[in-house]
Amino acid sequence: MKLLHHIRRLVTCAAGRDSISDAALVWDADRILWVGPLAELPSAYVHAERYDVDGCLVIPGLVDCHTHLAFGGWRSDEFGLRCKGATYQEIAARGGGIASTMAKTRAASEEELYQRCAGFLYEMTALGVTTVECKSGYGLTVEEELKLLRVYRRLQQTMPQMIVATCLGAHIIPLEYKQDRDGYIDLLCKELLPRVAAEKLASFCDVFVEMGAFSTEEAWEILERGNQLGMRPKLHADQLSDGGGGELAASVRAISADHLEYTNAAGIRAMAQAGVIAVSLPLASLYLNKPPLDARKFLAAGVPVAVATDFNPGSAPSYHLPLAMTLACTMNHLSPAEALRGATIVAAQALGLENEVGSLEPGKRADFVLIDVESVDQWLYHFVPNAATAVYVRGERHETGSRSHS
Ligand code: NIG
Ligand code: FE
Repeated sequence: MKLLHHIRRLVTCAAGRDSISDAALVWDADRILWVGPLAELPSAYVHAERYDVDGCLVIPGLVDCHTHLAFGGWRSDEFGLRCKGATYQEIAARGGGIASTMAKTRAASEEELYQRCAGFLYEMTALGVTTVECKSGYGLTVEEELKLLRVYRRLQQTMPQMIVATCLGAHIIPLEYKQDRDGYIDLLCKELLPRVAAEKLASFCDVFVEMGAFSTEEAWEILERGNQLGMRPKLHADQLSDGGGGELAASVRAISADHLEYTNAAGIRAMAQAGVIAVSLPLASLYLNKPPLDARKFLAAGVPVAVATDFNPGSAPSYHLPLAMTLACTMNHLSPAEALRGATIVAAQALGLENEVGSLEPGKRADFVLIDVESVDQWLYHFVPNAATAVYVRGERHETGSRSHS
């Protein structure tokens, strides 16, 4: 049994007592046993092994609920073109974009992709990220999509973080099916999704709904098939135009709808009624120089807002979740406290993991981050490469190499 003490402030992100000063946290193996003011420590825990955190802020391990972690190559050439005015859609129409990453991903072996993802996850742990959702979507054949999902399964077995896999076989229609869209949708519904379900390779099924990707009707068919096979829907919706994504997410009972920069008021109301979580991806808005989502509209309607990176080689080439959280404050109008909830408990809800991770409560996984600042406001305001001084994943300490920033 172990105990952290001399915590200046502990933010639980739980309902009720959200923030505790002069706190202590007790855990055993990979589970939290108790959190509260040190002065109220129950006698059962007074002999726990003690660690003095020297006045740090302690927060739950961060949850990145939207990444495209496994991909081959990068696309810095497109970044250069966009800086000079080309749009994401123009580049995609010329054969760049997702199609160009697809070619580089198909050329990479499962082992190469595994090693690269493990490297990314190592860096993400140091930033305080202890749960990561990972989408396929750059293979776009049955075997190539399975290859990516098997990389994620191996990461689940070998990395300390909690890894959650999503099948995004419906990212775009690959070139070989450009004249036969229905043929590709059949392949997804009749071959890929059943195989993914049989091998239990993904928890969720995602579709990119956009001009140049999939229509609402196509998405409906794919997501219903995923639902039947036990994979709850997620959606890339309303990112570049209003495609009725909010209503679609509500009608397919999606657990989350992500992007939502162009979602209209009726869509937001439908999401509220159906209990769909909105996932804000401000790095994508920043990199594509697109109008960001206004989180206040979603929150006012009763839709919880999560914050994630969308890490991918095109629209969001960064896995820095604390940076996304700072941007969620300045671009999406979340308060720092709301951005922290968005990247912890609300993100956990977007993965159906709210009983396991995302807050500091007895029974949950012992995932927490030590930050040498006095408050969440100070942390997200004074951006530094890495403010985390130590990260505990499943109760095990990981050093981050960062020094104090206070
Ligand atoms: O979430 N919008 C679709 N998919 C990704 C971008 C993928 C890419 O450009 O490679 C996104 O922004
Ligand atoms: Fe995405």
